[in-house]
Amino acid sequence: MDADPPTERRISLHGEWSSRFAFILAVAGSAVGLGNVWKFPYIAGENGGGAFVLFYLLCVSLIGLPIMMAEILIGRRGRRNPVATMGLIGDEESGTSKWAIVGIVGIGAGILILSYYSVIAGWAFAYVWKGISGSFSGLDADAVGTLFGGLAGSALATGTWHTVFMVMTVAVVAKGVERGLEKAVRVLMPALIALLFVLLGYSMVAGDFAGAVEFMFAPRFSELTRDGALIALGHAFFTLSVGMGAVMAYGAYLPDEHSIGKTSMAIVAADTGIAMLAGLVIFPIVFANGLDPATGPGLVFQSLPLAFGQMPGGQIVAGGFFLLLTFAAWTSAISLMEPGVAWLIETLRVGRLVAAWALGLSIWLLGFLSVFSFNVLSDVTFLRGTFFDNLDYLTANIMLPLGGLAIVVFAGWIMSQNSTADEIDPGAGSSYRAWRFLARYIAPIAVILIFLNAIGLF
Ligand code: PFF
Repeated sequence: MDADPPTERRISLHGEWSSRFAFILAVAGSAVGLGNVWKFPYIAGENGGGAFVLFYLLCVSLIGLPIMMAEILIGRRGRRNPVATMGLIGDEESGTSKWAIVGIVGIGAGILILSYYSVIAGWAFAYVWKGISGSFSGLDADAVGTLFGGLAGSALATGTWHTVFMVMTVAVVAKGVERGLEKAVRVLMPALIALLFVLLGYSMVAGDFAGAVEFMFAPRFSELTRDGALIALGHAFFTLSVGMGAVMAYGAYLPDEHSIGKTSMAIVAADTGIAMLAGLVIFPIVFANGLDPATGPGLVFQSLPLAFGQMPGGQIVAGGFFLLLTFAAWTSAISLMEPGVAWLIETLRVGRLVAAWALGLSIWLLGFLSVFSFNVLSDVTFLRGTFFDNLDYLTANIMLPLGGLAIVVFAGWIMSQNSTADEIDPGAGSSYRAWRFLARYIAPIAVILIFLNAIGLF
């Protein structure tokens, strides 16, 4: 391992972001995706709302935020792919490059997540055309269920859309992240937020808004189970894209002079705000139409079409909304692949094109296990449910929190104070001290306690 002296700044092997804003956009593009609009509402619905949402917000700010900062600082210091970076800095700080394992497990998590993420993103894309062509007009609660069941229940349709989405993702990764990605996020993210606000207006007028606010924000602590707490923790990692090296890989391309703390706070705030917005759009429709908040993965695909089918200009709004959701998923999917691709390029010395298509092909194939979980293999269940359910649980609720734990312990305990302060705030001011306290004590202890609690150890 080429351990250059720590004081000398390393240069990224894959280019740099053109500005701090471009980096914020890229990480925000990674963070904001299906997790906010598809997953947050459905798991909040399944876990009783209020207390779950509050616990999730605590996890995001006390655990997710310091871990995001840790990933960026490690990434920027190493300026390699997450495996090489963890090995390199591990070697520098503690004389062992074994920390590279964290990067390898992270790449594995990214591959597993993308294999099912692409399937859900494929549904969103399919709904663009359904929306535009007027398939939602006049549907009632039963009919939206049938429509969604028709898509998810068809291995051919779901598999085809999964294929289309994977090709879109690989096509961008094969070209290099900074080209294309910046531009896409800069325009599409504000458009998604604007559209969510329009829908919020609709839900306030036409939905059961008061019921939704009560469901989401009135904490009923008895409804938060041990498992629900772990799911909230897992979702804090999933939604912020931390715990697997995606943010670390992007941090490697962040120019030296930019503040890690401010950047991370902006991203966390935007990501959380969008999830809250999505909930406040979806739940009023759910309650006004007698849908079950615990419907599961189909929740967003069954609630929003009810609204689109009733509102003036609903076809355009529906098409636009699902298109923007597909784009949001796309920028996240790109970041799920980037660590693996950067690693393949640097280790096997293959070109980006080859690395991206080879990895993409494997993820695409693996994705069929999730495609089939909703149709031909829907009866094959074990542990948590279908293959999809298990994959989602394993990656989001186990792999990401453990990966994040390793990363934050590394940044808080293994790296010297000099190195971390040098990246975050060379003056070691109060923001640095707050980060270090969260990174050394609060985040690791909380993750461990939530795990122990989930397996019933106390
Ligand atoms: N944060 C993304 C979302 O909320 O949809 C999903 C994700 C992307 C998770 C990248 C993990 C990751 F590394």
